[in-house]
This record gives sequence, C-alpha cells and structure tokens, in this order.
Amino acid sequence: MMRYQLCVIHGDGIGGEVIEAAVSVLQTALPELEAHPARAGWDCFQDTGEAVPQATLDTLRQCGAGLFGATQSPTRKVEGYRSAILTMRQELDLYANLRPAYSLPRVSPRADVDLLVVRENTEGMYVGKERIENGKAIAERHISHEASYRIAALAARLAASREGRLTIAHKANVLPLTCGLFRDAARLAAATVAPQVQVDELLIDVAAMYMAAEPERFDVAVTTNLFGDILSDISANWIGGLGLAPSLNLGEGIALAEPVHGSAPDIAGKGIANPSAAILSAAMLCRYHWQREDVADQLEAAVANAMEHLGPDAGSQPITEAVIAALPQHATV
Ligand code: NAD
Ligand code: IPM
Ligand code: MN
Repeated sequence: MMRYQLCVIHGDGIGGEVIEAAVSVLQTALPELEAHPARAGWDCFQDTGEAVPQATLDTLRQCGAGLFGATQSPTRKVEGYRSAILTMRQELDLYANLRPAYSLPRVSPRADVDLLVVRENTEGMYVGKERIENGKAIAERHISHEASYRIAALAARLAASREGRLTIAHKANVLPLTCGLFRDAARLAAATVAPQVQVDELLIDVAAMYMAAEPERFDVAVTTNLFGDILSDISANWIGGLGLAPSLNLGEGIALAEPVHGSAPDIAGKGIANPSAAILSAAMLCRYHWQREDVADQLEAAVANAMEHLGPDAGSQPITEAVIAALPQHATV
C-alpha cells in the first residue's frame, strides 16, 4: 500500500485548531497517511530561538509534503526573527503558490466563480532585503527571468487544463524593468509551453478592481509575489472569506499546504475557527502533489456539504464532524 508522509506543523493561534481538524479529516479520507509533527512559528521562536528549526526543514524534506497552520509575526523588526512561512518557502524552493477561489453553496457571495491565482513565491518584494540608508528606508525588489518563466510556465499549464485563459498581472507602466521582465518572461513561457492558452495582461490595480467586481473574468491569473499576496486575499472573498480560502506552496517534488488566513488571534482558543480553509488546502495537496484527484474531489464535496448544511460559523468541531460524516470512507471506519 502506498503510504503518504505528511509533516504537520500547527504554528500559532488558530493554526493548531484548524490543522488538527484537517489531519483528522485527511486520515479518514486517506488511511495510508502517516503524520509527522514538527514545529515552526512565533511560539517556537520564543521557546527555542528559531522560527523554523533545522529538524522541521529536515522532516519536511523527508516527507516531501507538509500541512501548516499559520504564524503570527510582529510588525516591527525583531532581531533573528523572520516569518516562518517565508523561510520554509525559500529554503525548500516552494516557487509557486496556488490560491484558488471557487463558489461554494451558501458561503460564497456569488455562484459560478472558478479562478486560480498563481503567485510567484520566492522573490519580488519578499527577498528580505530592507535597509536604512541616509535616513531613507529602502526595500529591494528582485525579479529574475528564471523565476518569472518558471511560475508562468506552471500557470500556463494549469490554464491549459482548465478554461485555457491566462492573465498576467503586473505594473510595468511604473516598474518597466522589474515588471517588464516578468511580463516578457511570462509571455514567452506561455507561448512556449501552452501556445493554445489565450493570454492577456492587466495592470495590477485594474486587475484588483476586476477581481473585486467581476471575478468571472479570470481563469488563471499569474503575478509577482506581493501582488499575488494582495490579489489572493481579494479573491478569497469569492469562496466565502478567509475561513474558506485554501493554498498550496509547490516546489519540485515537495509541497506545503496552508490556508490563506493567519493566526487569527481575535478568535484563537475559542473553538470557532472554520477549519474549511485548512481542509481544502489538504485537498490541494491530494490534487496537485499526490495526484489523488479522487480524494481531493471527496474532500471538497464534503466541505461544500458541511458549509451548505451548517454554515461557516457552526464551530470547528461540528464542522469537522460534518465533513468527516460526508466522506464515503466514513461508513467503513
Ligand atoms: P488573519 O487571517 O489571522 O485574520 C483576519 C480576520 O479573519 C480575523 O478577523 C480572523 O478572526 C478571521 N479569520 C481568519 N481565519 C479564520 C478562520 N479559519 N475562521 C474564521 N475566521 C477567520 O489575519 P491578520 O489578523 O491580519 O493576521 C494575524 C497574524 O497572522 C499576523 O501576525 C500575520 O502576520 C499572521 N499571518 C500569517 C499567515 C501565515 O502564516 N500564512 C497569513 C496571514 C497572516
Ligand atoms: C500569506 C501571508 C504571508 C505572506 C505572511 C504571513 C508572511 O500573508 O501567506 O499570504 O505575506 O506571504
Ligand atoms: Mn497574505
């Protein structure tokens, strides 16, 4: 029997609550799963002096797959600390962040939305190079042909497997060197790997307006790191908000699933976090990394069912139980 190894990282705040829920759901749907716990995040940093211990990176590499809750980060510089998720993305070269938004019954504000934001995950404004020079704060933005080509090639292949439409979102009117390079590499990648895909481009500000007002306009949208961060919180609205929005960090032979939301300190420990985003992230791991589309379909249908019958505010445990009860494997366990 094929075994699926999963590195399980709670992180901070509601991270532990939603990840435990997602693991119990995944264990029902995929009994061959072996979970390996590891630590990362702000609490881990406070305890150990490291936000991502070497042992966690080793476990992630050995498993080839991870499920991560969320970390909490201060908005002021703390010596020696960097957001755990950024370290994991960079250390493991998780170059793509897939963030879908699709309509679910009851919780989504509109039917017939089905889009995918593909966010470049390793460079851009996230290279971590900020400094003060002569009283001026400077942040570097790195855009390489290789990273831009790689992310757009994946986005174009994904578009080819969907409706066949790819939107490149950038700001080359103001940043002609960085965003211009991204746009040119993305066009080249799409034309090379999936010439049948229809490509258009939008400036990021108007892309944000369309994402908020006319999400049906998008099939796959590919963009740079920070723009993708913002665009995917806007698109999260269409699946039903942050409690529902899933994501997958993808590299070569390795993937780390994580909900789009953060540690939600305002609701942590209250048992009211919606675990759906975490469960749907686990479904993405099944779909894109383990090639278990059958299990992904089952998990997504079970979440849709639980949302339809209970709604997003029913509480973590009732939602988890309803999702498990809706799985076909439930009858046999
Ligand atoms: P957040 O996503 O934690 O919370 C935003 C709002 O959404 C809050 O009102 C929260 O209660 C609600 N929410 C989030 N997840 C929910 C869920 N599953 N069910 C129900 N409601 C939910 O964003 P924030 O408040 O801006 O950030 C809090 C902390 O999380 C910050 O320290 C930030 O850096 C961190 N963060 C981490 C990640 C990550 O690790 N991937 C992502 C985003 C934010
Ligand atoms: C996300 C988060 C992270 C990001 C933060 C927590 C570093 O907002 O995963 O969207 O900016 O990428
Ligand atoms: Mn974000």
